[in-house]
Amino acid sequence: MADRPIRVLFLCLGNICRSPLAEGVFRAKVEEAGLATHFEIDSAGTGPWHAGEPPDARMRSTAQKNGVDLGTIRGRQLSKADLDRFDHIFAMDKSNLHDALFLDPGGDHGTRIRLFREFDPDPGDYQVPDPYYGGPSGFDHVYAIVDRTAQAILERLYTAHRLDSEPDH
Ligand code: 4NP
Repeated sequence: MADRPIRVLFLCLGNICRSPLAEGVFRAKVEEAGLATHFEIDSAGTGPWHAGEPPDARMRSTAQKNGVDLGTIRGRQLSKADLDRFDHIFAMDKSNLHDALFLDPGGDHGTRIRLFREFDPDPGDYQVPDPYYGGPSGFDHVYAIVDRTAQAILERLYTAHRLDSEPDH
């Protein structure tokens, strides 16, 4: 394989709903495809409030219902060092994207920091709605968005990083 894994970070506000789900769903797809050694996968929030906490119980049960375990994920706040470390940072909404870019306003981030739903085949307004203050149907809606977008991102990275030509796969 390449000399180091591809580093992928999913970003939202609290790191207890949307981005931990994206982390868990993407990891499950990577493992199912036998590509685990090729990726380092993480998530973070732009805000500090939920650092150290497990994902929201409603998000955990929505994921569990779909065979995805978020149990080991703990909230953490995005740092400036993350902007350099990760090859791909996928922001759940435009304010998350803005906040990430303005952690390092002079930085040369190229196309590494982007909206997650840029890769959604049905992108709507390009943002993953925050289900935190809504009812249960919001969580299923977010799951559907995250599931199809994580699949599209994996296919895109598989091609872009030429994982098909890697000898250990
Ligand atoms: P998330 O949802 O950004 O998808 O993790 C939120 C969770 C908590 C808060 C905001 C959004 N909060 O303000 O506590």
